[in-house]
Amino acid sequence: MLDFHAHILPGADHGSDGLQTSLRQLKLAEQAGIDTVIATPHFYPQTDEFDRFLQLRRSAYESLLEHYSGSVRILAGAEVHMCVGLDHLEGLEALCIPGTNVMLCELPFRSFSSGLTETFERLMDERGIVPVLAHVDRYDPTVINNLFGMGLLGQLNAEPLSRTFHRRRLLPWIDGGYIVALGSDIHGVEIGYAQFSRAVDFLGPRFDAIESRARKLLRQAL
Ligand SMILES: [Fe+2]
Repeated sequence: MLDFHAHILPGADHGSDGLQTSLRQLKLAEQAGIDTVIATPHFYPQTDEFDRFLQLRRSAYESLLEHYSGSVRILAGAEVHMCVGLDHLEGLEALCIPGTNVMLCELPFRSFSSGLTETFERLMDERGIVPVLAHVDRYDPTVINNLFGMGLLGQLNAEPLSRTFHRRRLLPWIDGGYIVALGSDIHGVEIGYAQFSRAVDFLGPRFDAIESRARKLLRQAL
C-alpha cells in the first residue's frame, strides 16, 4: 500500500520532530502494510525561502535514509500551499514527486479566489504539472467539485474515512474517479496508521481502485 501524504522527514516541518520519531513512524507504516511513503513536508511559498526548503528537505531525507533500514520506500515530495502566481516560481518542478510531474497542493482554508483557479490552469497548461489536491475532504465541496470539473485530481485523508459519520459523502468522489490517492497525513506517532487501516477496511475494493490510480500516476517513480 502507498501512503501519498506524510510528514515523516525529521525536522523538515512541524511533522516529525526528529529522527527517532521518523523511525517510529516508519515502523508503524511497515506494521500497517505500507510499502511506499511519499514524504510531503509543508512548503509555504509566501514565507519559506525556496532554496532553503529544498536544502532542508534534502538533508532530512538523507539523514533518514542513512538511519532507516526497513522495507518502506520513501520518496521526497512536498505539500505545497497554493498561492496566486505559484506557477511563476522558477524550478518548482523540484516540488513534484521525484521522477514525475505530480505535485501535492494544499488549498488555503479561506478565501478561494479566481486567481487560484487561473494559477492552477497555468500550472497544468504551461508548466505541465499534475496537481493533486491534498485532503479534499476538508474543504467546501462546491469549491472542490469546481476544481474536479477543471481536471484537477484529489487526495483523501484516512481520518474522515475511518469515522462512521459523514464518510459516505466522500464515496461519490471516489466512484467518480477524482480521488487518486489516500494519505495518512501523519505528523507525530500518536495516531500512527490506525486510521489508515480502518479507512482501507471501510473502502474495500474502492481502496484498490484508488491505489491503482496512484500507482499509475507515479509509475515513473515506483
Ligand atoms: Fe499534510
